[in-house]
Amino acid sequence: MASLTSSSIGRKYAMALSAFFLLSFLILHLVVNLLSLFGPTVYNNASNFMGYNPLVQFVMQPILVAGVIFHFVMGFVLEIRNNAARPVKYGVNNPSENSTWMSRNMIISGLVILAFLGLHMYDFWYHEMSYKYIEGLPVEQERFWTDLHSKFQSPIRTGIYIISFILLGLHLAHGFQSSFQSVGARHPKYTPALKAFGNWFSIIIPAGFIVIALFHFLTQ
Ligand code: HEM
Repeated sequence: MASLTSSSIGRKYAMALSAFFLLSFLILHLVVNLLSLFGPTVYNNASNFMGYNPLVQFVMQPILVAGVIFHFVMGFVLEIRNNAARPVKYGVNNPSENSTWMSRNMIISGLVILAFLGLHMYDFWYHEMSYKYIEGLPVEQERFWTDLHSKFQSPIRTGIYIISFILLGLHLAHGFQSSFQSVGARHPKYTPALKAFGNWFSIIIPAGFIVIALFHFLTQ
Protein backbone atom coordinates (compact mmCIF):
# COMPACT_ATOMS: atom_id res chain seq x y z
CA MET A 1 0.00 0.00 0.00
CA ALA A 2 2.83 2.40 0.94
CA SER A 3 4.59 1.80 -2.40
CA LEU A 4 1.30 2.41 -4.20
CA THR A 5 0.90 5.85 -2.68
CA SER A 6 4.54 6.99 -2.47
CA SER A 7 5.25 7.46 -6.21
CA SER A 8 3.33 9.53 -8.74
CA ILE A 9 2.54 6.48 -10.91
CA GLY A 10 1.59 4.46 -7.84
CA ARG A 11 -0.81 7.18 -6.70
CA LYS A 12 -2.50 7.30 -10.13
CA TYR A 13 -2.75 3.52 -10.08
CA ALA A 14 -4.28 3.51 -6.59
CA MET A 15 -6.70 6.27 -7.63
CA ALA A 16 -7.77 4.19 -10.63
CA LEU A 17 -8.29 1.06 -8.50
CA SER A 18 -10.48 2.99 -6.05
CA ALA A 19 -12.39 4.42 -9.07
CA PHE A 20 -13.06 0.89 -10.43
CA PHE A 21 -14.35 -0.13 -7.03
CA LEU A 22 -16.66 2.92 -6.82
CA LEU A 23 -17.88 2.35 -10.40
CA SER A 24 -19.01 -1.14 -9.44
CA PHE A 25 -20.70 0.25 -6.31
CA LEU A 26 -22.56 2.78 -8.47
CA ILE A 27 -23.95 0.01 -10.70
CA LEU A 28 -25.17 -1.99 -7.70
CA HIS A 29 -26.54 1.12 -5.99
CA LEU A 30 -28.43 2.13 -9.13
CA VAL A 31 -29.90 -1.35 -9.63
CA VAL A 32 -31.13 -1.56 -6.01
CA ASN A 33 -32.67 1.92 -6.12
CA LEU A 34 -34.24 1.36 -9.54
CA LEU A 35 -36.27 -1.39 -7.85
CA SER A 36 -38.12 1.41 -6.04
CA LEU A 37 -39.80 2.25 -9.38
CA PHE A 38 -41.56 -1.14 -9.27
CA GLY A 39 -43.33 -0.44 -6.00
CA PRO A 40 -42.78 -0.80 -2.25
CA THR A 41 -42.73 -4.61 -1.97
CA VAL A 42 -39.76 -5.38 -4.20
CA TYR A 43 -37.74 -2.38 -2.90
CA ASN A 44 -38.49 -3.15 0.75
CA ASN A 45 -37.42 -6.77 0.27
CA ALA A 46 -34.12 -5.77 -1.34
CA SER A 47 -33.46 -3.07 1.29
CA ASN A 48 -34.22 -5.45 4.14
CA PHE A 49 -31.73 -7.91 2.72
CA MET A 50 -29.02 -5.24 2.28
CA GLY A 51 -29.86 -3.48 5.54
CA TYR A 52 -29.74 -6.53 7.81
CA ASN A 53 -27.24 -8.82 6.12
CA PRO A 54 -24.10 -8.95 8.36
CA LEU A 55 -21.77 -9.36 5.35
CA VAL A 56 -23.20 -6.20 3.73
CA GLN A 57 -23.36 -4.24 6.97
CA PHE A 58 -20.08 -5.14 8.66
CA VAL A 59 -17.79 -6.05 5.75
CA MET A 60 -18.96 -4.41 2.52
CA GLN A 61 -20.20 -1.14 4.04
CA PRO A 62 -16.96 -0.29 5.94
CA ILE A 63 -14.93 -1.19 2.81
CA LEU A 64 -17.16 1.12 0.77
CA VAL A 65 -16.80 4.02 3.22
CA ALA A 66 -13.00 3.51 3.24
CA GLY A 67 -13.03 3.41 -0.60
CA VAL A 68 -14.98 6.67 -0.82
CA ILE A 69 -12.69 8.46 1.67
CA PHE A 70 -9.56 7.10 -0.04
CA HIS A 71 -10.77 8.26 -3.47
CA PHE A 72 -11.44 11.81 -2.26
CA VAL A 73 -8.23 12.16 -0.23
CA MET A 74 -6.16 10.76 -3.11
CA GLY A 75 -7.94 13.09 -5.56
CA PHE A 76 -6.91 16.10 -3.48
CA VAL A 77 -3.33 14.84 -3.13
CA LEU A 78 -3.04 14.32 -6.91
CA GLU A 79 -4.52 17.75 -7.61
CA ILE A 80 -2.15 19.53 -5.21
CA ARG A 81 0.89 17.65 -6.54
CA ASN A 82 -0.08 18.24 -10.18
CA ASN A 83 -0.49 21.96 -9.55
CA ALA A 84 2.87 22.14 -7.78
CA ALA A 85 4.61 20.22 -10.59
CA ARG A 86 3.08 22.24 -13.44
CA PRO A 87 5.78 24.71 -14.56
CA VAL A 88 3.70 26.71 -17.06
CA LYS A 89 0.32 28.06 -16.05
CA TYR A 90 -2.64 27.04 -18.15
CA GLY A 91 -3.22 30.59 -19.41
CA VAL A 92 0.03 30.42 -21.34
CA ASN A 93 -0.27 26.76 -22.25
CA ASN A 94 -3.58 27.09 -24.16
CA PRO A 95 -5.20 24.18 -22.33
CA SER A 96 -8.35 24.00 -24.45
CA GLU A 97 -6.24 22.68 -27.31
CA ASN A 98 -4.70 19.92 -25.22
CA SER A 99 -7.49 18.72 -22.92
CA THR A 100 -11.20 19.05 -22.19
CA TRP A 101 -12.52 21.46 -19.56
CA MET A 102 -13.80 18.49 -17.57
CA SER A 103 -10.47 16.70 -17.50
CA ARG A 104 -8.83 19.84 -16.10
CA ASN A 105 -11.54 20.36 -13.51
CA MET A 106 -12.13 16.92 -12.05
CA ILE A 107 -11.55 18.52 -8.65
CA ILE A 108 -14.57 20.83 -9.16
CA SER A 109 -16.97 18.03 -10.16
CA GLY A 110 -15.41 15.93 -7.37
CA LEU A 111 -16.15 18.66 -4.81
CA VAL A 112 -19.78 18.92 -5.97
CA ILE A 113 -20.13 15.13 -5.60
CA LEU A 114 -18.52 15.35 -2.14
CA ALA A 115 -21.04 18.04 -1.12
CA PHE A 116 -23.86 15.90 -2.54
CA LEU A 117 -22.60 12.91 -0.54
CA GLY A 118 -22.71 15.03 2.64
CA LEU A 119 -26.41 15.76 2.02
CA HIS A 120 -27.09 12.20 0.84
CA MET A 121 -25.47 10.60 3.90
CA TYR A 122 -27.52 12.90 6.12
CA ASP A 123 -30.70 12.04 4.20
CA PHE A 124 -30.35 8.26 4.12
CA TRP A 125 -27.27 6.77 5.71
CA TYR A 126 -27.27 8.66 9.02
CA HIS A 127 -31.00 8.05 9.36
CA GLU A 128 -30.49 4.33 8.76
CA MET A 129 -27.52 3.99 11.12
CA SER A 130 -29.37 5.91 13.81
CA TYR A 131 -32.52 3.78 13.39
CA LYS A 132 -30.65 0.49 13.69
CA TYR A 133 -27.59 1.11 15.83
CA ILE A 134 -28.26 4.20 17.98
CA GLU A 135 -31.99 4.01 18.70
CA GLY A 136 -31.96 0.22 18.23
CA LEU A 137 -35.46 0.21 16.74
CA PRO A 138 -36.95 -3.13 15.62
CA VAL A 139 -36.96 -4.46 12.05
CA GLU A 140 -39.78 -2.73 10.21
CA GLN A 141 -40.17 -4.25 6.76
CA GLU A 142 -42.25 -1.47 5.24
CA ARG A 143 -40.22 1.63 6.07
CA PHE A 144 -37.60 1.74 3.28
CA TRP A 145 -39.76 2.67 0.30
CA THR A 146 -41.79 5.25 2.25
CA ASP A 147 -38.60 6.87 3.61
CA LEU A 148 -37.10 7.08 0.11
CA HIS A 149 -40.30 8.37 -1.45
CA SER A 150 -40.77 11.09 1.19
CA LYS A 151 -37.24 12.46 0.60
CA PHE A 152 -38.25 13.58 -2.90
CA GLN A 153 -41.20 15.67 -1.75
CA SER A 154 -39.00 18.75 -1.81
CA PRO A 155 -38.37 20.32 -5.25
CA ILE A 156 -35.19 21.90 -3.88
CA ARG A 157 -33.70 18.61 -2.70
CA THR A 158 -34.79 16.91 -5.94
CA GLY A 159 -33.14 19.75 -7.93
CA ILE A 160 -29.90 19.52 -5.92
CA TYR A 161 -29.82 15.75 -6.46
CA ILE A 162 -30.38 16.10 -10.22
CA ILE A 163 -27.67 18.77 -10.61
CA SER A 164 -25.28 16.52 -8.65
CA PHE A 165 -26.08 13.57 -10.92
CA ILE A 166 -25.26 15.69 -13.98
CA LEU A 167 -21.91 16.62 -12.43
CA LEU A 168 -21.40 12.95 -11.57
CA GLY A 169 -21.87 12.17 -15.28
CA LEU A 170 -19.25 14.74 -16.26
CA HIS A 171 -16.87 13.37 -13.61
CA LEU A 172 -17.41 9.83 -14.90
CA ALA A 173 -16.99 10.89 -18.54
CA HIS A 174 -13.35 11.76 -17.93
CA GLY A 175 -12.71 9.50 -14.91
CA PHE A 176 -13.74 6.30 -16.65
CA GLN A 177 -11.22 6.38 -19.47
CA SER A 178 -8.56 8.09 -17.36
CA SER A 179 -8.69 5.18 -14.86
CA PHE A 180 -8.07 2.67 -17.63
CA GLN A 181 -5.17 4.77 -18.92
CA SER A 182 -3.67 4.93 -15.42
CA VAL A 183 -3.52 1.14 -15.17
CA GLY A 184 -1.89 0.98 -18.61
CA ALA A 185 -4.87 -0.49 -20.47
CA ARG A 186 -4.13 0.82 -23.95
CA HIS A 187 -4.78 -1.07 -27.16
CA PRO A 188 -5.30 0.24 -30.73
CA LYS A 189 -8.34 -2.00 -31.18
CA TYR A 190 -9.99 -1.97 -27.75
CA THR A 191 -9.29 1.58 -26.48
CA PRO A 192 -11.83 3.29 -28.82
CA ALA A 193 -14.49 0.74 -27.80
CA LEU A 194 -13.66 1.29 -24.13
CA LYS A 195 -13.90 5.05 -24.65
CA ALA A 196 -17.32 4.68 -26.29
CA PHE A 197 -18.46 2.39 -23.47
CA GLY A 198 -17.22 4.95 -20.92
CA ASN A 199 -19.22 7.70 -22.62
CA TRP A 200 -22.38 5.60 -22.54
CA PHE A 201 -21.72 4.58 -18.95
CA SER A 202 -21.36 8.20 -17.87
CA ILE A 203 -24.73 9.01 -19.46
CA ILE A 204 -26.74 5.93 -18.48
CA ILE A 205 -25.74 5.72 -14.79
CA PRO A 206 -26.56 9.37 -13.88
CA ALA A 207 -29.67 9.23 -16.12
CA GLY A 208 -30.86 6.22 -14.11
CA PHE A 209 -30.44 8.15 -10.84
CA ILE A 210 -32.25 11.15 -12.37
CA VAL A 211 -35.16 8.89 -13.39
CA ILE A 212 -35.43 7.63 -9.77
CA ALA A 213 -35.42 11.17 -8.32
CA LEU A 214 -37.96 12.43 -10.88
CA PHE A 215 -40.20 9.39 -10.50
CA HIS A 216 -40.51 9.88 -6.73
CA PHE A 217 -40.91 13.63 -7.04
CA LEU A 218 -43.63 13.37 -9.68
CA THR A 219 -45.59 10.59 -7.94
CA GLN A 220 -45.99 12.33 -4.55
C1 HEM B 1 -31.80 8.92 -6.66
C2 HEM B 1 -30.61 8.43 -6.42
C3 HEM B 1 -30.20 7.74 -5.15
C4 HEM B 1 -30.97 7.15 -4.21
C5 HEM B 1 -32.49 7.02 -4.18
C6 HEM B 1 -30.08 6.63 -3.19
C7 HEM B 1 -30.50 5.96 -2.04
C8 HEM B 1 -29.67 5.57 -1.00
C9 HEM B 1 -30.12 4.93 0.20
C10 HEM B 1 -31.57 4.56 0.51
C11 HEM B 1 -29.03 4.73 0.98
C12 HEM B 1 -29.00 4.10 2.39
C13 HEM B 1 -28.58 2.67 2.30
C14 HEM B 1 -28.48 2.05 3.65
O1 HEM B 1 -27.48 2.23 4.32
O2 HEM B 1 -29.43 1.39 4.00
C15 HEM B 1 -27.88 5.24 0.27
C16 HEM B 1 -26.59 5.20 0.73
C17 HEM B 1 -25.49 5.61 0.00
N1 HEM B 1 -25.50 6.22 -1.25
FE1 HEM B 1 -27.12 6.54 -2.38
N2 HEM B 1 -28.78 6.91 -3.54
C18 HEM B 1 -28.80 7.60 -4.74
C19 HEM B 1 -27.70 8.07 -5.45
C20 HEM B 1 -26.38 7.95 -5.03
C21 HEM B 1 -25.24 8.40 -5.78
C22 HEM B 1 -25.29 9.06 -7.15
C23 HEM B 1 -24.13 8.10 -5.03
C24 HEM B 1 -22.67 8.35 -5.33
C25 HEM B 1 -22.22 9.39 -6.01
C26 HEM B 1 -24.59 7.48 -3.80
C27 HEM B 1 -23.77 7.06 -2.78
C28 HEM B 1 -24.20 6.47 -1.62
C29 HEM B 1 -23.30 6.01 -0.56
C30 HEM B 1 -21.76 6.10 -0.59
C31 HEM B 1 -24.12 5.48 0.45
C32 HEM B 1 -23.66 4.88 1.80
C33 HEM B 1 -23.33 3.47 1.67
C34 HEM B 1 -24.46 2.54 1.81
O3 HEM B 1 -24.96 2.42 2.91
O4 HEM B 1 -24.87 1.88 0.83
N3 HEM B 1 -25.95 7.40 -3.84
N4 HEM B 1 -28.30 5.75 -0.95
